[in-house]
Amino acid sequence: MAEVKTVAVIGAGTMGRGIAYVAALGGYRTVLEDLLPNALRKAESEIRSQLDKAVELGKVSVGVADATFSRIEYAASVEEAAREADLVIEAVPEEMESKIEIFTLLDKICRPGTILASNTSSLSITEIASVTYRAEKCLGMHFFNPVHKMKLLEIVRALETDDDTLATAVEVGRRMGKEVVAIKESPGFITSRINAMIGNEAFYMLQEGIASAGDIDKALKLGLNHPMGPFELVDLVGLDTRLHILDYLHKTFGEKYRPAPLLVQYVKAGRLGRKSRRGVYEYPEQDAIEA
Ligand SMILES: NC(=O)c1ccc[n+]([C@@H]2O[C@H](COP(=O)([O-])OP(=O)(O)OC[C@H]3O[C@@H](n4cnc5c(N)ncnc54)[C@H](O)[C@@H]3O)[C@@H](O)[C@H]2O)c1
Repeated sequence: MAEVKTVAVIGAGTMGRGIAYVAALGGYRTVLEDLLPNALRKAESEIRSQLDKAVELGKVSVGVADATFSRIEYAASVEEAAREADLVIEAVPEEMESKIEIFTLLDKICRPGTILASNTSSLSITEIASVTYRAEKCLGMHFFNPVHKMKLLEIVRALETDDDTLATAVEVGRRMGKEVVAIKESPGFITSRINAMIGNEAFYMLQEGIASAGDIDKALKLGLNHPMGPFELVDLVGLDTRLHILDYLHKTFGEKYRPAPLLVQYVKAGRLGRKSRRGVYEYPEQDAIEA
């Protein structure tokens, strides 16, 4: 198994900052990078306030919180972030072109032994890995939102991923406090494939006027014991992210995943969920990440 000391995270949005948090809490030196300096500043202040809340709730000591915070560095470029990393986790938007661009660059910058992981929710790791000269060292590490609360890490083995890379990622995931399931690559893996289907069906129902968003959420929570309704969840995930996933599943699996026209309309209107303060529901005050 490869030794991992430094983890780089590319993209400091909803997922990247959460992954940096659990990596640092797991004891790794962590370097977080984003194209937008503002995203990095926001990530830094959210990580700090999340650690403060964890202290208040008695989940970590002041010493652990401070040590975690000091293990995270912020880099102005992918080169700066990744050159010393043993593992790089990419968390840029769910578009194949962006993933390929980042992996091409990472393959040039990183040491030959560095493992390259993508947090993609649905895309083919085999396709992303094929632009590198180290396909055997590429895999999917699919974290869930909010990263510090959600227990699962889905590890995705692509066509060429070797045993050592898989074992290393499983061990890193455990040190980050996650329960791991390792799966063979397939579009949408286990979770996104099922979740996208439920969420899309909910948009079709809303579009057909069968019930209000609130009642559809209530029905799934109280009748099917889901912890969140499909609209509460899509507002958290991001409607744009969900649409990217559905587009990909539609392309790979066919008609049954065709995105509901209402979802497409919401995304066109900029109603992206909590991150834009309006999704299916309205969020006048931006929520800080809850501890
Ligand atoms: N949001 C979720 O609930 C969720 C859950 C699991 C997995 N994912 C996956 O995680 C990935 C990221 O999703 P997100 O919700 O964090 O997106 P996001 O839009 O919140 O954040 C993406 C970040 O990447 C940055 N970025 C864009 N291009 C970049 C580049 N070339 N280099 C560096 N940074 C760049 C953006 O500035 C932004 O800050 C996607 O693949 C998504 O499918 C999302």
